[in-house]
Amino acid sequence: MGIFITVEGGEGSGKSTHIKTMADWLEDLGYKVVLTRDPGATEIGDALRPLILDKKYDVSHEAELLLYLACRAELVDKVIQPGLETADIVLCDRFFDSTAVYQGIIRGWDSALLNQMHRKFSRNVIPDHTFLFDVDPKIGLSRSEGYDKNESKWEEEGLATHRRINNAFLELATGTGFSIIDANKDIDAVWDDFIIEFIKIFFPKSIPVSDYDSCFFMGRGCIKEYSCVKDWKTCGLYSYFDFLLKNF
Ligand code: TMP
Repeated sequence: MGIFITVEGGEGSGKSTHIKTMADWLEDLGYKVVLTRDPGATEIGDALRPLILDKKYDVSHEAELLLYLACRAELVDKVIQPGLETADIVLCDRFFDSTAVYQGIIRGWDSALLNQMHRKFSRNVIPDHTFLFDVDPKIGLSRSEGYDKNESKWEEEGLATHRRINNAFLELATGTGFSIIDANKDIDAVWDDFIIEFIKIFFPKSIPVSDYDSCFFMGRGCIKEYSCVKDWKTCGLYSYFDFLLKNF
C-alpha cells in the first residue's frame, strides 16, 4: 500500500511547481510515483474542471460543491485508490482540505455535511500527510497575475477572501498530519524547506545512520528493499541530505 501525500494552499503558493519537482526527485530515487491533481486528472474531472472554475460560467454554490465532489469521486476511483495499490507514493495537488476551506469556510457549507459527503462519495480516503504552503495572499496573487484569468474564478475574489482562505488552511494545519511550509520565500528557498521537511517526516533515519537496515523505508514500501546498495553513504537520500547540511 502506497503513501498518500497532498499539498494545499492559497493561490500562487507555488505548491503545484514544488509537487512536480518532488515527484521527479522521488522517481530519480527509484520510487514509483503517481502525481495527480484535484479537480481534474480523469476524463470526467478534466471535463468538469473548466465548468467549475472558468468565470464565464455562473455556477450556483450548490452545483459548485457537487461538481468538486464529482471530480473527487472520479479521482479516488480512477487514480488515487489504484495508485495506492500499485505505486509507492501518490502525490496530489489539493484534496478534501480545499473543500473544507473553500466550500466550508468561504461558501459556508456545514463541516459535518462535508465530512459525511467525503465518507460517502470519496470513500473516506485521507492523506497520510499534507504539506500546507502558507503564502501571504498579496504575494500569492501577485505571482499568479501572469496566469490565464479564466482558469480560476477564485482569483477574482478580493484580498480579504484570500486572507480568510489562508487563515482557514492554517487553522486546519494545527491538527495532526500537517507540515506548514513558508511559501513567501523565493522558489529555491521554499523548495529547500519542503524537501528538508519531507525528509524529516518520511526518511528521518536518513540522517546519518551507520546501517541501511535502519532506513525508515525498510519494510514500509522502499522499492530498494531487495536491491538496496547496502551502503548508506551511496543512498540517494543520504547524499541529498548531506548535501543540504553542508550547504547551510
Ligand atoms: P488549482 O488551480 O490550485 O488546481 O485550484 C483550483 C481552484 O479550485 C482553487 O482556486 C481552489 C479551488 N478548489 C475548491 O474551491 N474546492 C475544492 O475542493 C478544490 C479541490 C479546489
